[in-house]
Amino acid sequence: MRDLDRSAVEAWLRETEPAALDQLWAEADRVRRERVGDEVHLRGLIEASSHCVRSCHYCGLRAPSGLARYRMTGAEILDAAREAHRLGYGSVVIQAGEDPGLTEAFIAEAVRAIKAETPLAVTLSLGERGDAELAAWKAAGADRYLLRFETSDPALYRRIHPDLPGRASDRFAQLRRMRDMGYEIGTGVMVGIPGQTWRTLAADLLCFREFDMDMIGVGPFLPSPRTPMGGPEAAGYRAPQDQVPNDELTTLKAVALTRLLCPDANLPSTTALATIDQAQGRELALQRGANVVMPNVTPPVFRVQYEIYPGKACVHETATACQGCLEGRIHSLGRRVGAGPGGRRKAPRKGSSACDSHH
Ligand code: 5AD
Ligand code: FES
Repeated sequence: MRDLDRSAVEAWLRETEPAALDQLWAEADRVRRERVGDEVHLRGLIEASSHCVRSCHYCGLRAPSGLARYRMTGAEILDAAREAHRLGYGSVVIQAGEDPGLTEAFIAEAVRAIKAETPLAVTLSLGERGDAELAAWKAAGADRYLLRFETSDPALYRRIHPDLPGRASDRFAQLRRMRDMGYEIGTGVMVGIPGQTWRTLAADLLCFREFDMDMIGVGPFLPSPRTPMGGPEAAGYRAPQDQVPNDELTTLKAVALTRLLCPDANLPSTTALATIDQAQGRELALQRGANVVMPNVTPPVFRVQYEIYPGKACVHETATACQGCLEGRIHSLGRRVGAGPGGRRKAPRKGSSACDSHH
């Protein structure tokens, strides 16, 4: 499995032979153990606001969806971070729709408050934001930023991700700028987006390597009601034999290949995967390349309203219940919960790459 070029990655993604797949799983697990060890890092997820000005065709938070909206206060965000720290997590992720109501000053203050009181690493995941705010948040102490590029195919990206007036969306460009500002950067894609081909998904995974990403989330696309991609009409984008399925097996292959392509990266076992296989999705990803889980620490009253897609795993569990459950699952795999923030393991590589643009 040395030369993972695009056609080799595509062939692995299409592989269905159980014996061959066993080899892939074993190799991904071996590389995970050798490069990032047996610790599973837990990041507390704080879903700070469900407001969103964008209209991504796949996302349940999209502006026109008719969803009830909330925005947590600074005190509520700090309380959720305290809860994460109390549960022994090494970092928090403040995530939201693209919400201008989460102003530069508000987020900077929230980051400062968390950093002043706890040793937590702070990751932001607030969508496409301007350089001035990104720099201000870095100065306030933010360590990392997550922005999935969703797909490296510019035509597919544009189809599912309308620009805001006067502002062309290019997530690759933002990822590059954030790296230059000193953020650890995280990205990811959805598996099985209607219109996504095997070739495109293989190219996505190679982009992770090209870009030398620090964190990479790979989860299945799940149709969300009240979105343009929530129903059967989404099926007709491209010839079925080229279409990547949004299933568990394909997602696990993508996670395993990502581990082989990016041996030192932090790879979460995603909530979307846990949603399609509540019994074992989390564990299977952890056994096939992943080394991170992001348990939800959002207060339950808000959590139910943050409906990116329906049926999300762990929506009704308390943070304490998830912590106990996860610890048990992690120990049952012969692994242990990671101590400390669990950040990047090597110096960032700067410069541009073949995956330079969404245009
Ligand atoms: N199914 C699966 N994942 C989704 N996301 C958004 N909508 C969906 C969906 N319908 C993912 C996107 C986004 C992350 C926060 O959630 O990849 O970047
Ligand atoms: Fe909100 Fe895409 S619709 S992040």
